[in-house]
Amino acid sequence: MRVHVADHPLITHKLTVLRDVTTPSPLFRELVDELLTLLAYEGTRGVRVRPIGIRTPVATTTGVRIADPKPLIVPILRAGLGMLGGMIKVLPTAEVGFLGMVRNEATLEPTTYAERLPADLGDRQCFVLDPMLATGGSLIAAIEFLFARGATDVTAICILAAPEGLAAVEKALSGREVTVVLGAVDERLNEHGYIVPGLGDAGDRLYGTAQ
Ligand code: PRP
Ligand code: URA
Repeated sequence: MRVHVADHPLITHKLTVLRDVTTPSPLFRELVDELLTLLAYEGTRGVRVRPIGIRTPVATTTGVRIADPKPLIVPILRAGLGMLGGMIKVLPTAEVGFLGMVRNEATLEPTTYAERLPADLGDRQCFVLDPMLATGGSLIAAIEFLFARGATDVTAICILAAPEGLAAVEKALSGREVTVVLGAVDERLNEHGYIVPGLGDAGDRLYGTAQ
């Protein structure tokens, strides 16, 4: 498993506004969209392409096109949905599958409540979107789900991670073809399983409370 932590002043700047408790939902959504455009640039570094010949107004030359089968973007509902718009701007020919997962806030265990994905993910490059890697339970379950469907190459893009959760993901998925791209690794998890300093509940900040 490979981990890449984006190190760029624009990302740190946008993350600072995102974390701010006074940032309202419309601006929060806009910042997630902008952050994704930057993180997707790193996350798609390994996207498969095939060579093609083209003619410019001046000469013939070779370039590349995104290879088939098309990459599959998998936002983890709810909060991952906020990342989809930014990702699809960078990879407009990708297809999109959905996984709905929710973490039990008492046990911190994730459960899967929805899925709409191709039955066979063999040969598909999968790009999982989830803003928060806290204990890592949700991301591990999501990636295991994709591997059980035949996926062999998974990139996860998360905005923030806790060191404890990142270590858990690395332990669970060591030796697998997985890349995790992160906006930042924060200090720790608190006693409620929230990332510190973090940004709070990403789903609530994007969409309001689910209760
Ligand atoms: C949040 C977040 C991740 C998960 C991370 O989702 O979007 O999916 O928690 O926590 P973990 O690493 O400890 O598993 P949540 O379960 O709150 O659902 P939501 O997106 O519907 O708000
Ligand atoms: N889920 C969130 O939305 N935020 C956290 O800090 C942890 C889990």
